[in-house]
Amino acid sequence: MGKDVIIACDFDSKEKTLAFLDQFQGEKPFVKIGMELYYAEGPAIVREIKARGHRIFLDLKLHDIPNTVKKAMAVLSGLDVDICNLHAAGTRPMMEAALEGLRRPDGTRPLLIAVTQLTSTDEETMRRDLLIDRPLDQVVMHYARTAAQAGLDGVVCSPLEAGKVHEACGRQFLTVTPGVRFAGGDTGDQKRVTTPARAKELGSDYIVVGRPITAAEDPVAAWKRCVAEFVD
Ligand code: C5P
Repeated sequence: MGKDVIIACDFDSKEKTLAFLDQFQGEKPFVKIGMELYYAEGPAIVREIKARGHRIFLDLKLHDIPNTVKKAMAVLSGLDVDICNLHAAGTRPMMEAALEGLRRPDGTRPLLIAVTQLTSTDEETMRRDLLIDRPLDQVVMHYARTAAQAGLDGVVCSPLEAGKVHEACGRQFLTVTPGVRFAGGDTGDQKRVTTPARAKELGSDYIVVGRPITAAEDPVAAWKRCVAEFVD
Protein backbone atom coordinates (compact mmCIF):
# COMPACT_ATOMS: atom_id res chain seq x y z
CA MET A 1 0.00 0.00 0.00
CA GLY A 2 1.28 3.46 -0.83
CA LYS A 3 0.94 6.72 1.05
CA ASP A 4 -2.63 7.75 1.84
CA VAL A 5 -4.82 10.05 3.90
CA ILE A 6 -7.08 8.31 6.45
CA ILE A 7 -10.12 10.31 7.62
CA ALA A 8 -10.92 9.83 11.32
CA CYS A 9 -14.70 9.40 11.29
CA ASP A 10 -15.18 10.40 14.93
CA PHE A 11 -18.98 10.49 14.86
CA ASP A 12 -21.41 8.99 17.37
CA SER A 13 -23.97 7.55 14.96
CA LYS A 14 -24.41 5.77 11.67
CA GLU A 15 -26.59 8.58 10.34
CA LYS A 16 -23.94 11.25 10.86
CA THR A 17 -21.20 9.03 9.45
CA LEU A 18 -23.08 8.07 6.29
CA ALA A 19 -24.25 11.66 5.72
CA PHE A 20 -20.60 12.70 5.95
CA LEU A 21 -19.43 9.99 3.51
CA ASP A 22 -22.31 10.72 1.10
CA GLN A 23 -20.67 14.07 0.32
CA PHE A 24 -17.76 12.25 -1.36
CA GLN A 25 -19.91 11.02 -4.28
CA GLY A 26 -17.69 8.75 -6.41
CA GLU A 27 -14.58 9.18 -4.25
CA LYS A 28 -13.72 6.49 -1.70
CA PRO A 29 -11.43 7.90 0.99
CA PHE A 30 -9.71 5.55 3.47
CA VAL A 31 -11.61 5.90 6.78
CA LYS A 32 -10.80 5.29 10.43
CA ILE A 33 -13.53 3.91 12.66
CA GLY A 34 -12.76 4.39 16.35
CA MET A 35 -14.26 3.24 19.63
CA GLU A 36 -17.03 5.84 19.71
CA LEU A 37 -18.62 4.84 16.41
CA TYR A 38 -17.90 1.11 16.81
CA TYR A 39 -19.42 0.93 20.29
CA ALA A 40 -22.42 2.99 19.15
CA GLU A 41 -23.20 0.98 16.02
CA GLY A 42 -21.35 -2.34 16.30
CA PRO A 43 -19.84 -4.41 13.49
CA ALA A 44 -22.72 -3.50 11.13
CA ILE A 45 -21.24 -0.04 10.57
CA VAL A 46 -17.95 -1.61 9.50
CA ARG A 47 -19.71 -3.91 7.04
CA GLU A 48 -21.78 -1.04 5.64
CA ILE A 49 -18.82 1.28 5.05
CA LYS A 50 -16.80 -1.59 3.59
CA ALA A 51 -19.69 -2.44 1.23
CA ARG A 52 -19.60 1.17 0.01
CA GLY A 53 -16.06 0.53 -1.17
CA HIS A 54 -13.94 2.27 1.48
CA ARG A 55 -10.78 0.89 3.01
CA ILE A 56 -11.06 0.83 6.80
CA PHE A 57 -8.64 1.29 9.69
CA LEU A 58 -10.47 -0.11 12.74
CA ASP A 59 -8.93 1.73 15.68
CA LEU A 60 -9.99 -0.31 18.73
CA LYS A 61 -6.56 -0.54 20.46
CA LEU A 62 -6.89 -4.04 21.90
CA HIS A 63 -5.03 -4.90 25.12
CA ASP A 64 -5.79 -8.16 27.00
CA ILE A 65 -4.31 -11.63 27.54
CA PRO A 66 -2.96 -13.21 24.34
CA ASN A 67 -5.73 -15.78 23.94
CA THR A 68 -8.50 -13.19 24.27
CA VAL A 69 -6.83 -10.82 21.82
CA LYS A 70 -6.21 -13.64 19.34
CA LYS A 71 -9.92 -14.57 19.33
CA ALA A 72 -11.07 -10.95 19.11
CA MET A 73 -8.71 -10.34 16.18
CA ALA A 74 -10.11 -13.39 14.37
CA VAL A 75 -13.57 -11.78 14.58
CA LEU A 76 -12.29 -8.39 13.37
CA SER A 77 -10.43 -9.96 10.47
CA GLY A 78 -13.72 -11.57 9.39
CA LEU A 79 -15.11 -8.02 9.04
CA ASP A 80 -12.64 -7.53 6.20
CA VAL A 81 -10.98 -4.44 7.67
CA ASP A 82 -7.69 -3.28 6.15
CA ILE A 83 -5.82 -2.14 9.28
CA CYS A 84 -6.43 -2.83 12.96
CA ASN A 85 -4.42 -2.09 16.07
CA LEU A 86 -3.48 -2.95 19.65
CA HIS A 87 -1.37 -1.62 22.50
CA ALA A 88 2.29 -2.63 22.35
CA ALA A 89 2.15 -2.54 26.17
CA GLY A 90 0.30 -5.88 25.91
CA THR A 91 3.82 -7.33 25.24
CA ARG A 92 5.27 -9.44 22.46
CA PRO A 93 3.32 -12.67 23.20
CA MET A 94 0.06 -10.71 22.91
CA MET A 95 1.15 -9.14 19.62
CA GLU A 96 2.18 -12.53 18.19
CA ALA A 97 -1.14 -14.06 19.24
CA ALA A 98 -2.98 -11.13 17.63
CA LEU A 99 -1.23 -11.79 14.32
CA GLU A 100 -2.19 -15.46 14.45
CA GLY A 101 -5.81 -14.54 15.12
CA LEU A 102 -5.88 -12.09 12.23
CA ARG A 103 -4.80 -14.59 9.58
CA ARG A 104 -7.79 -15.56 7.43
CA PRO A 105 -8.31 -19.10 6.09
CA ASP A 106 -7.02 -17.94 2.67
CA GLY A 107 -3.73 -16.77 4.24
CA THR A 108 -4.43 -13.02 3.93
CA ARG A 109 -4.79 -10.72 6.94
CA PRO A 110 -5.39 -7.05 7.74
CA LEU A 111 -2.32 -4.98 8.54
CA LEU A 112 -1.65 -4.81 12.27
CA ILE A 113 -0.12 -1.75 13.90
CA ALA A 114 0.71 -0.91 17.51
CA VAL A 115 0.07 2.06 19.72
CA THR A 116 3.30 2.75 21.65
CA GLN A 117 2.67 5.26 24.43
CA LEU A 118 -0.52 7.28 24.03
CA THR A 119 0.12 10.94 23.24
CA SER A 120 -1.92 11.77 26.35
CA THR A 121 0.80 10.12 28.48
CA ASP A 122 3.83 12.28 29.29
CA GLU A 123 7.08 11.40 31.05
CA GLU A 124 5.72 12.53 34.41
CA THR A 125 2.56 10.35 34.32
CA MET A 126 4.57 7.44 32.90
CA ARG A 127 6.94 7.61 35.86
CA ARG A 128 4.22 8.19 38.46
CA ASP A 129 1.52 5.78 37.26
CA LEU A 130 3.45 3.18 35.27
CA LEU A 131 6.77 3.22 37.19
CA ILE A 132 8.66 3.63 33.90
CA ASP A 133 11.75 5.78 34.53
CA ARG A 134 13.23 5.98 31.02
CA PRO A 135 12.82 9.00 28.74
CA LEU A 136 9.57 8.84 26.77
CA ASP A 137 11.25 8.71 23.34
CA GLN A 138 13.34 5.70 24.42
CA VAL A 139 10.20 3.92 25.60
CA VAL A 140 8.38 4.69 22.34
CA MET A 141 11.30 3.37 20.25
CA HIS A 142 11.61 0.24 22.40
CA TYR A 143 7.89 -0.51 21.98
CA ALA A 144 8.21 0.07 18.21
CA ARG A 145 11.16 -2.34 17.96
CA THR A 146 9.29 -4.96 20.01
CA ALA A 147 6.29 -4.60 17.71
CA ALA A 148 8.56 -5.09 14.68
CA GLN A 149 10.17 -8.16 16.27
CA ALA A 150 6.70 -9.60 16.91
CA GLY A 151 6.03 -9.29 13.16
CA LEU A 152 3.66 -6.31 13.21
CA ASP A 153 3.42 -3.99 10.22
CA GLY A 154 3.93 -0.64 11.93
CA VAL A 155 3.04 1.80 14.68
CA VAL A 156 0.86 4.82 15.32
CA CYS A 157 3.19 7.71 16.07
CA SER A 158 3.77 11.42 15.57
CA PRO A 159 5.08 12.44 12.13
CA LEU A 160 7.97 13.91 14.11
CA GLU A 161 8.93 10.35 15.17
CA ALA A 162 8.44 8.73 11.75
CA GLY A 163 12.09 9.05 10.67
CA LYS A 164 13.44 7.52 13.88
CA VAL A 165 10.95 4.65 13.70
CA HIS A 166 11.99 3.90 10.12
CA GLU A 167 15.68 3.99 11.13
CA ALA A 168 15.10 1.54 13.98
CA CYS A 169 12.56 -0.78 12.37
CA GLY A 170 13.15 -0.48 8.62
CA ARG A 171 11.63 1.61 5.82
CA GLN A 172 8.90 -0.97 5.25
CA PHE A 173 7.63 -0.64 8.84
CA LEU A 174 4.59 1.63 8.58
CA THR A 175 4.20 4.92 10.40
CA VAL A 176 0.56 5.95 10.75
CA THR A 177 0.51 9.48 12.05
CA PRO A 178 -2.22 11.65 13.59
CA GLY A 179 -1.69 15.24 14.76
CA VAL A 180 -2.03 16.79 11.31
CA ARG A 181 -3.26 20.33 10.70
CA PHE A 182 -3.24 22.69 7.72
CA ALA A 183 -0.88 25.64 7.97
CA GLY A 184 -2.71 28.36 9.91
CA GLY A 185 -5.54 25.96 10.92
CA ASP A 186 -7.09 25.47 14.37
CA THR A 187 -4.97 22.96 16.35
CA GLY A 188 -7.78 22.02 18.81
CA ASP A 189 -6.43 19.75 21.57
CA GLN A 190 -3.47 18.46 19.50
CA LYS A 191 -0.20 19.82 20.84
CA ARG A 192 2.54 18.82 18.42
CA VAL A 193 1.06 19.30 14.97
CA THR A 194 2.43 18.94 11.46
CA THR A 195 1.04 19.93 8.05
CA PRO A 196 0.31 17.18 5.50
CA ALA A 197 3.23 18.44 3.36
CA ARG A 198 5.63 18.31 6.32
CA ALA A 199 4.38 14.82 7.30
CA LYS A 200 5.28 13.71 3.76
CA GLU A 201 8.79 15.17 4.07
CA LEU A 202 9.23 13.45 7.43
CA GLY A 203 8.39 10.07 5.89
CA SER A 204 4.91 9.27 7.30
CA ASP A 205 3.22 6.45 5.40
CA TYR A 206 -0.36 7.34 6.35
CA ILE A 207 -1.71 10.51 7.94
CA VAL A 208 -4.84 10.27 10.10
CA VAL A 209 -6.84 13.47 9.81
CA GLY A 210 -10.05 14.15 11.73
CA ARG A 211 -11.41 17.62 12.43
CA PRO A 212 -9.50 19.49 9.69
CA ILE A 213 -11.68 17.44 7.29
CA THR A 214 -14.81 16.48 9.31
CA ALA A 215 -15.36 20.02 10.67
CA ALA A 216 -14.42 21.83 7.45
CA GLU A 217 -17.01 23.87 5.61
CA ASP A 218 -16.23 21.78 2.53
CA PRO A 219 -14.95 18.38 3.76
CA VAL A 220 -14.34 17.03 0.24
CA ALA A 221 -12.18 20.05 -0.66
CA ALA A 222 -10.28 19.68 2.65
CA TRP A 223 -9.65 15.97 1.95
CA LYS A 224 -8.48 16.78 -1.59
CA ARG A 225 -6.12 19.41 -0.19
CA CYS A 226 -4.67 16.79 2.19
CA VAL A 227 -4.22 14.31 -0.63
CA ALA A 228 -2.61 16.95 -2.86
CA GLU A 229 -0.14 17.94 -0.12
CA PHE A 230 0.62 14.45 1.21
CA VAL A 231 0.24 11.97 -1.66
CA ASP A 232 0.54 13.68 -5.03
O1 C5P B 1 -9.46 15.54 14.79
P1 C5P B 1 -8.04 15.07 14.77
O2 C5P B 1 -7.33 15.29 13.44
O3 C5P B 1 -7.22 15.59 15.94
O4 C5P B 1 -8.17 13.48 14.93
C1 C5P B 1 -7.06 12.64 15.09
C2 C5P B 1 -7.51 11.22 15.27
O5 C5P B 1 -6.38 10.41 15.56
C3 C5P B 1 -8.49 11.00 16.41
O6 C5P B 1 -9.36 9.93 16.03
C4 C5P B 1 -7.61 10.61 17.56
O7 C5P B 1 -8.26 9.80 18.49
C5 C5P B 1 -6.53 9.80 16.84
N1 C5P B 1 -5.26 9.69 17.55
C6 C5P B 1 -4.49 10.78 17.92
N2 C5P B 1 -3.31 10.61 18.58
C7 C5P B 1 -2.86 9.36 18.86
C8 C5P B 1 -3.61 8.25 18.48
C9 C5P B 1 -4.82 8.44 17.81
O8 C5P B 1 -4.88 11.91 17.67
N3 C5P B 1 -1.69 9.21 19.44
